[in-house]
Amino acid sequence: MLTPPAAVAQQPTETASTTAYDIGGRFSLTTQHGTQLSDADLKGKPYIVFFGFTHCPEVCPTTLFELTGALAALGPDADLLTPLFVTVDPERDTQEYLASYLGAFDSRIIGLSGSAEETAAIARSFKATYRKVPLGGDDYTMDHTAIIYLIDREGQFFDKIDYREDFAVQIEKLRRLVAAK
Ligand code: NI
Repeated sequence: MLTPPAAVAQQPTETASTTAYDIGGRFSLTTQHGTQLSDADLKGKPYIVFFGFTHCPEVCPTTLFELTGALAALGPDADLLTPLFVTVDPERDTQEYLASYLGAFDSRIIGLSGSAEETAAIARSFKATYRKVPLGGDDYTMDHTAIIYLIDREGQFFDKIDYREDFAVQIEKLRRLVAAK
């Protein structure tokens, strides 16, 4: 039996965090208030990212409703993180539409939109997917990744919350994110 070369034998053991650094990245998008927000603006403060669209019949309103509840449950800790809702449908989700839609949820949730290219770029950096699904006529819906990404204060992927994950677990993950160094 061949002995593996030292370089191979000494490779670090793969851990859950090995791929973490591949998720997330640079972005600069427009908020529902008309201001510009970039990842650099969030340096030093954890943030969470959810991709969706305002015409979403179920996944987005459910997620934003639960997130609103989770932020309330966090109490003052909720102010220590920044929740971001990135539209994958910038064609219809104008700044005004985003502002109106997000008015139904926790006011700390920041809606973000960009050009088609900017939207594709941020989704790609998070390994999130989305696609337009025609509904007949000019109407369409969007399929999209339904994960909430948790990014730590260093801008590194920390954890994720799955769609409709147990509510207590959602809160626990957000608490750990806020407490993380
Ligand atoms: Ni949705």
